[in-house]
Amino acid sequence: MREFLVAGNWKMNGSAADSEALVSGIVEGAPAVAGYRLLVCPPFTYLASVAGLLTGSNIALGAQNVSQFESGAHTGEIAASMLKDVGCEYVIVGHSERRAMSGESSDIVAAKFLAAQAAGLIPILCVGETLQEREAGTTEKVIDEQLDAVLVAAGIDAFESAVVAYEPVWAIGTGKTAGPAQAQDVHQHIRGRLAAHKPELAEKLQILYGGSMKGDNAPGLLSMADIDGGLIGGASLKANDFLAIAAAAAQS
Ligand code: PGA
Repeated sequence: MREFLVAGNWKMNGSAADSEALVSGIVEGAPAVAGYRLLVCPPFTYLASVAGLLTGSNIALGAQNVSQFESGAHTGEIAASMLKDVGCEYVIVGHSERRAMSGESSDIVAAKFLAAQAAGLIPILCVGETLQEREAGTTEKVIDEQLDAVLVAAGIDAFESAVVAYEPVWAIGTGKTAGPAQAQDVHQHIRGRLAAHKPELAEKLQILYGGSMKGDNAPGLLSMADIDGGLIGGASLKANDFLAIAAAAAQS
């Protein structure tokens, strides 16, 4: 059985005080049951203080981005080793906002995936189509290209310690969610694509859904066979909203 992973992507929101209040609320309210795990991904500047507040809890820490380079003259970038140093276990790579707004190609995303793993972090590889791509019937083609860039660079075995997040771009921050069956179709496709290389690995891989997931739609999404958790933006910014999704995972 795959464990659920419920991950909060705080994006560029909040202050030091807000992050501390948010993480404290999550630590206090998280259902203490087996079978699911929580993860929070605050902005870089709050990682250290959030790490301190997570000590002794079973909640993991992650970052939202990482440099593909190890160290050196890369002004403004953060290396994977630095994230590891501050207590991160996970890092999101290839979020659609970074692909679209920071020009990250699938090759750059693959390099980031490799850099994360080289430092002992678990990359959460985001893939997903835009509305235009869905309407043109190219969803699977787009996702295959995004997955294949990493497969070619890292090999199938690298997915042993990685997570994939299916995030339809048209559902992110829009209030539109993929329906459970619609999301399941893509999750099944992703698992199948990796299973063609190594079935037993694909069976164990966690594939998260992201895009306007909330307490009320989480039970339906999480009940699907290939949906193993969520990558949550908006609803991860209030402890109670995030905990409602955690509760759905804990009960699924
Ligand atoms: P959303 O964001 O939950 O606000 O749609 C999800 C994400 O971008 O990871």
